[in-house]
Amino acid sequence: MRVVHTLAELRHALAGATGTAFVPTMGNLHEGHLSLVRLARERGGPVVASIFVNRLQFAPHEDFDTYPRTLERDCELLRATGCNLVFAPSEAELYPEPQSFTVQPPGELADILEGHFRPGFFTGVCTVVTKLFNCVQPRVAVFGKKDYQQLMVIRRMTRQLALPIEIVAGETSRAEDGLALSSRNGYLDAAQRAEAVALARELQGVAAELRRGRRDWSALEAAAMDALADRGWKVDYVAIRRQADLGAPADGEALVVLGAARIGSTRLIDNVEVGVAT
Ligand code: PAF
Repeated sequence: MRVVHTLAELRHALAGATGTAFVPTMGNLHEGHLSLVRLARERGGPVVASIFVNRLQFAPHEDFDTYPRTLERDCELLRATGCNLVFAPSEAELYPEPQSFTVQPPGELADILEGHFRPGFFTGVCTVVTKLFNCVQPRVAVFGKKDYQQLMVIRRMTRQLALPIEIVAGETSRAEDGLALSSRNGYLDAAQRAEAVALARELQGVAAELRRGRRDWSALEAAAMDALADRGWKVDYVAIRRQADLGAPADGEALVVLGAARIGSTRLIDNVEVGVAT
C-alpha cells in the first residue's frame, strides 16, 4: 500500500487505473470504515482511501481542531484491510487558495435534520467530496449508512451532476451493545460510553412500533426525545422520514428513524431503517 500526500503523486500512482473504488474518510478509523474498505475491495479494482479532516464542513464552534489525527495507525489498519493507496493531503494541498467555489446542495435535502443543526455542513461535505472525486476519479465510491443524510445528499449530487460514479452504501457497524461505531465515540468517558447506546435503543424502539403498525409519527418522535431527555441527553431530533428522500413519512413507504443527541459535550447520530425501499 502506498501513502501519497500530493495531487501530483496521486495522479501518478493512479495513471492508467480503471475501476477504482474510493472510500473517503476523515481518519481516526474504526471497524466501520474498514467494513467500507472491504466493500470497496469486492469491486475488484484498486482501492483508494482518503484521509482528510475537512475544515469546510465544521462550524467555528465544532471540533475541527481537536478532531483526532491518527494517520500512522490509520495507515496500518488500511494496509491490513487490503487498501492499495491512501491519499492524505495537507490543507494547503487540497485548498491551496480559499475555496470560494462551493457545491451547494438543495435546501429541501440539506437544510433539514443535520443541516438544520449544522448549517453549511452539507455544502462543506459536497464541496470536498466533489473535489476528492475529481482527484481520485473513481468508478465506485463507498459511504456508510451511519451518516444517512450524507449518503442521500451525495447520491443526489452524483446523479444530478452526472458524475460517472456508482455510490455504494455500507451498513452501519455496531459495538456489541448496539452503539453505532463513530470516531466521536472516543470522546466519551466510561459512564457516557455505557449510556451512549440509549440513542440506538430509542431509535430501535420507534422502529419496532412502526413495524407493529403505529402511524402516529409525531407522538412516537416526541416520546423517544422525551425518554432521551429524561436520561440527561440534549436532543436535537428524533425524526421518522421516508427512506427515498427524507421527506415526511407516509403509510406504505420504506421509512428511516433518525436521531441526533448530545451526551455531555459529544454529539452522536444514528438511524434505523424500517422496511426496504424498492
Ligand atoms: O463522512 C465523512 O467522514 C466525511 O463527511 C467525508 C465524506 C469524508 C467528507 O469529508
